[in-house]
Amino acid sequence: MNRQASPRDAVLKASRDYYAHRAYYEDLLGQGASSRATTKRELDFLESVFHANATHQVNDVLDVACGNGRHIIGLSRRGYRCTGSDYTPERIQVAKARAHHEGASVKLSQGDATKLAYESKFDAVLALYVLFLLPDDDSVLRCLRQVHRALKSGGVMVCNIGNPFYAGKEWFSLKTIHQGRYSQEVRVPGMRYMSIDRVQSFDSLHGVAWWQGTHVIETPDGMHIFRERERLRLLTYWDMLHYLQSAGFKEIKCYPDWNIKPTKKPKAETLIFVSRKD
Ligand SMILES: C[S@@+](CC[C@H](N)C(=O)[O-])C[C@H]1O[C@@H](n2cnc3c(N)ncnc32)[C@H](O)[C@@H]1O
Repeated sequence: MNRQASPRDAVLKASRDYYAHRAYYEDLLGQGASSRATTKRELDFLESVFHANATHQVNDVLDVACGNGRHIIGLSRRGYRCTGSDYTPERIQVAKARAHHEGASVKLSQGDATKLAYESKFDAVLALYVLFLLPDDDSVLRCLRQVHRALKSGGVMVCNIGNPFYAGKEWFSLKTIHQGRYSQEVRVPGMRYMSIDRVQSFDSLHGVAWWQGTHVIETPDGMHIFRERERLRLLTYWDMLHYLQSAGFKEIKCYPDWNIKPTKKPKAETLIFVSRKD
């Protein structure tokens, strides 16, 4: 019998294909000067909000969708005890190689951000650039509840979303979704990455867009072309407040674009939420 994949499984499969194909290349792109500067800025921000918001010193950190490990490896190199997981095994493989290369000690394993089995174990938990990719809103809430459980009392969660109301051109902004197209080109020494994405469908009632993309990577060993789909949930500032509160967080701050001054006027491109467990 031919069993049809559930909508949830279909999203997870699309996401896994997407991130598996570009795991190795994204790690290389991440070594470019501009990506390294971005990661450094995000790491500085993380340390600063840990210090400002946790009630005790942050030592143990979990990253629930660590990708190639750029945050969790960076934090390990700054002296934190670090654990990272990601749904896509290929990304964990690349993260392990990167951690080894950088002499960082991080516990890394494959895992689903909606199936975390920790209780009162971490001083800080990261869920960066991932919540808007989870298969449905139940998964978002489940992930936040499990992060809440994984934190020690007084510990903090840091998560972020692309702001759908951002006025500029980004793949997560309503403006771009309505235009229906997004393209980009990134170059680092020895590699050129180009992508052309178009909106395949947009459900404005639930705030869900499916992007269909063609991605071309040119490296000295040839040209690699991937075609995949990715689901994007356009989570808003108010969605996030609602879900974080429903997950049990009472102390929630929103920061714009990795600036360490919280905002009450969320007009930024990226909104970062720092939530403390009582
Ligand atoms: C845009 S990347 C961000 C990676 C990393 N947090 C960063 O900022 O570089 C999204 C990551 O989420 C992972 N992912 C997608 N769905 C997931 C899930 N249900 N559980 C854990 N990881 C997931 C993907 O494999 C991918 O590595």
